[in-house]
Amino acid sequence: MKNLLITGGAGFIGSNYIIDMLKKHTNYSIVNLDILTYAGNLSNLSEIEKDSRYTFIKGSINNLELVSYILHDYKIDAIVNFAAESHVDRSILGPDIFVETNVKGTSTLLEAAREYGIEKFLQVSTDEVYGSLGDDGKFTENTHISPNSPYSASKAGADMLVRSYYKTFKFPALITRCSNNYGPYQFPEKLIPLMIKNAREDKPLPVYGTGKNIRDWIHVLDHCTAIDLVLHNGEIGGIYNIGGENEWRNIDIVKEILKLLDKPESLIKFVTDRPGHDFRYAIDPSKIKKELGWKPKYNFSDGLKETIKWYKASQKWVGDCTSGAYKNYYDKMYHGR
Ligand code: NAD
Ligand code: TYD
Repeated sequence: MKNLLITGGAGFIGSNYIIDMLKKHTNYSIVNLDILTYAGNLSNLSEIEKDSRYTFIKGSINNLELVSYILHDYKIDAIVNFAAESHVDRSILGPDIFVETNVKGTSTLLEAAREYGIEKFLQVSTDEVYGSLGDDGKFTENTHISPNSPYSASKAGADMLVRSYYKTFKFPALITRCSNNYGPYQFPEKLIPLMIKNAREDKPLPVYGTGKNIRDWIHVLDHCTAIDLVLHNGEIGGIYNIGGENEWRNIDIVKEILKLLDKPESLIKFVTDRPGHDFRYAIDPSKIKKELGWKPKYNFSDGLKETIKWYKASQKWVGDCTSGAYKNYYDKMYHGR
């Protein structure tokens, strides 16, 4: 395997993954296909953008002609599909684009890849397809799919399509389902970067409902390592849960961030709860640990401190996200405008 098509590689996890993969596999070439929605930020990739092994193509996974052209022209061996609408709150405000990108886009990619005869197709999915847990238990790969938000429903729809291609066409599919990621380059609309940004600016920190909802956090680079392992050594047709076994109540994370930034808890503002707010996510990652020997490298305490340090050192990146200046990066970089 040498030539990879990474979709959605200008987003948070995709950009971390591309940088990581080019470091780990020096003989690999990567094509990054990304339409650059509000979540796509090409400046994330500035350290590798001139690398001869890397090509950026602005376009959509919904464009069958374009995807087919890329597969043939770049002799793609494997696809890792990160491209998605990924924010639950946005999916509540407008579900349509989630169906269009996450379901229809994945379907288009699958069809192009099947026709072309791809060697491997890895669908980057989420633990949210399993729905919500009560106080006990963890999601395993056998937990029933039971999504509760338009986001998770659209990701579940994509997973079902990927499964059907494996079953019907013996298509070489793999699915990973990871818990909540944190780390550098996460757009400041998700919990951790938003709270860091607001705390640093002495703005209120909006905590939904009681703040007692629980998420299971993993460093983005531990997720990337797991995807790399599944891509190379996972069993075709397999589903792999990925998680850091690191559960936190939202309110406790918010307090921890305030403590690390030396800011007062009076900045916390409890706001109206998210409709259909899943109570708890918790991943059982025994399968990937046992079968592929994966284990996370980061402990949360160091990972969170490092992430806060990164956001502090990346004031321009954060400022450009807020002002929208990051949207000009493509024209500057690729068209000299
Ligand atoms: P993100 O929102 O930061 O990035 C998504 C990227 O996809 C953006 O660069 C965007 O421009 C691109 N994109 C959107 N529509 C596209 C289209 N039609 N064609 C091509 N590109 C398109 O998302 P993320 O947090 O990096 O998540 C990446 C993937 O991982 C998603 O599939 C998500 O469901 C999954 N995931 C995320 C998390 C998490 O905690 N962030 C956890 C588990 C799984
Ligand atoms: P988020 O980062 O949006 O990820 P997800 O909803 O996919 O798990 O949210 C993480 C948790 O934080 C979730 O329980 C909702 C909560 N939350 C807040 O309390 N306030 C906020 O401003 C945001 C963005 C999230």
